[in-house]
Amino acid sequence: MSYITASIDDLKYLYSNGSKFVDFSKPDIVFAIQSIAFNPIFWNIVARLEYKTHFLTKVAGGARNGCYLLALTIFSLGIFRDHVYFNALQNQPTYEPFLTNPVFQAIAIASFGFGNILVLTSMYALGVTGTYLGDYFGILMDDRVTGFPFNINDNPMYNGSTLCFLGTALWYGKPTGLVVTFIVHGFYKLALFFEEPFTAKIYAKREEARSKKQE
Ligand SMILES: *[C@@H]1O[C@H](CO)[C@@H](O)[C@H](O)[C@H]1NC(C)=O
Ligand SMILES: *[C@@H]1O[C@H](CO)[C@@H](O)[C@H](O)[C@H]1NC(C)=O
Repeated sequence: MSYITASIDDLKYLYSNGSKFVDFSKPDIVFAIQSIAFNPIFWNIVARLEYKTHFLTKVAGGARNGCYLLALTIFSLGIFRDHVYFNALQNQPTYEPFLTNPVFQAIAIASFGFGNILVLTSMYALGVTGTYLGDYFGILMDDRVTGFPFNINDNPMYNGSTLCFLGTALWYGKPTGLVVTFIVHGFYKLALFFEEPFTAKIYAKREEARSKKQE
């Protein structure tokens, strides 16, 4: 109980004195945020370009190979971004209570662990082409995936990734990481705003084509 009341006081302190623990004057953290913003913008633009021109299908010699190429690129960009974020975080001020209060460390582990479970199980459920924008290449899923983790969360990939950012920030005691997590969440929301209607449109088109066939 005492750890919990202490953690609430710690958060109150951080809330009113937070600016002491966040330093956006350093170029590396700015670069990390730029990398975070770049990725969803990049894959949305490239995927739409593919949908319109099939340039990746042409380059890679087939839709499936084109999608694998995009998957590899997005995956690599993600690793690069995580690396940049992690390094930038080390140069940020540390809020000691995050490190010393087991409540925060427990939340960090739970958040990172559950986040990874969401990301990995949704990748497993969707496969490579389902995870990496295969629908823009004309590679559609036969049916909507409804099993875990999609039965508990509509966007397990994005929510999982956000939780990993949160867990990392808490584990290393970096309030800056909390701000970055919030920014990540915002960019994923923005990406969904573009992706969801587009995906819905592609699948609606297929339904239309299917019902025409049956007539
Ligand atoms: C913020 O910091 C000041 C100076 O250290 C401290 O007096 C104050 O209590 C802090 N705010 C909270 C809510 O703890
Ligand atoms: C996380 O999941 C909730 C519930 O499914 C959803 O409303 C929210 O938009 C998701 N956030 C992101 C960034 O995907």
